[in-house]
Amino acid sequence: MPKLGECTGYKYIQETGYRRDTIKKMMRPAIAETGIFKKYPDADKVELPRSWSLKEARIIPLLQHRRSLRKYKMEPISLGELAFMLWASQGITAKSGNYSFRTTPSGGALYPIETYIAANHIEDLEPGIYHFDVENFALDKIRTGDQAETVANACMNQKFMASSAVTFLWSVIFRRSMSKYGNRGMRYVLLDAGHICQNTLTAAEAIGSGGCPVAAFYDDEVNDLLGLDGKDETVIYAASVGKKVAPGKQSEL
Ligand SMILES: Cc1cc2nc3c(=O)[nH]c(=O)nc-3n(C[C@H](O)[C@H](O)[C@H](O)COP(=O)(O)O)c2cc1C
Repeated sequence: MPKLGECTGYKYIQETGYRRDTIKKMMRPAIAETGIFKKYPDADKVELPRSWSLKEARIIPLLQHRRSLRKYKMEPISLGELAFMLWASQGITAKSGNYSFRTTPSGGALYPIETYIAANHIEDLEPGIYHFDVENFALDKIRTGDQAETVANACMNQKFMASSAVTFLWSVIFRRSMSKYGNRGMRYVLLDAGHICQNTLTAAEAIGSGGCPVAAFYDDEVNDLLGLDGKDETVIYAASVGKKVAPGKQSEL
């Protein structure tokens, strides 16, 4: 097994990091575009019914209405609502032997993703950066003070993020997965992050909020903000969440 720093997957993450001072000079290979829908023009089509009889399933409206939301009501989210979203992201739902299973699946139940938040407008919570202590269902205070603008700037100046109630920042601790799976573990890490973000956004929908996933950020700047070295642990994904504005007033990309 190669050392972590020698793994293809690890080198890939390091080499594709964005840096404010070098981003313009980053080489982008010329890869021809391809269609967004894969077609099998010669295949027989089986029409799928749209009138499925699962109307009572409460998840349907949550999935139907989810949209990446980049405009938020200037209204705080309650601490209970934040707790609900954190639980949905990574909360422990069952125990078996040494394993604590969570709301989201994880390759090998190794849970390589850590959740941090930039709390901007949360009732009864001082603005600042917190880490989600999954085991104790608690928040670890990393630093206080309004970080909304700093986070938005670190995320390549995506200003809408500064008006969110909270920004979730997900980091990966590579060794958790890669010590078992080697290079292949990098695939699992990225898949885990996707599960977590989606659960969080579905939970946001359930509390009359919405959010936007964000993967465009200056890696070193977001890592510095959270106190991460960018080597053993680095931010991989983020999402800003806030209360929904009236329908029709949401911004679109
Ligand atoms: C991996 C990933 C990264 C994304 N990064 C950003 C981002 O940095 N900024 C942004 O405004 N939207 C970002 N988005 C949101 C997409 O633009 C959005 O999902 C897409 O336009 C489809 O729209 P919908 O989410 O409303 O269905 C990201 C989405 C994904 C899945």
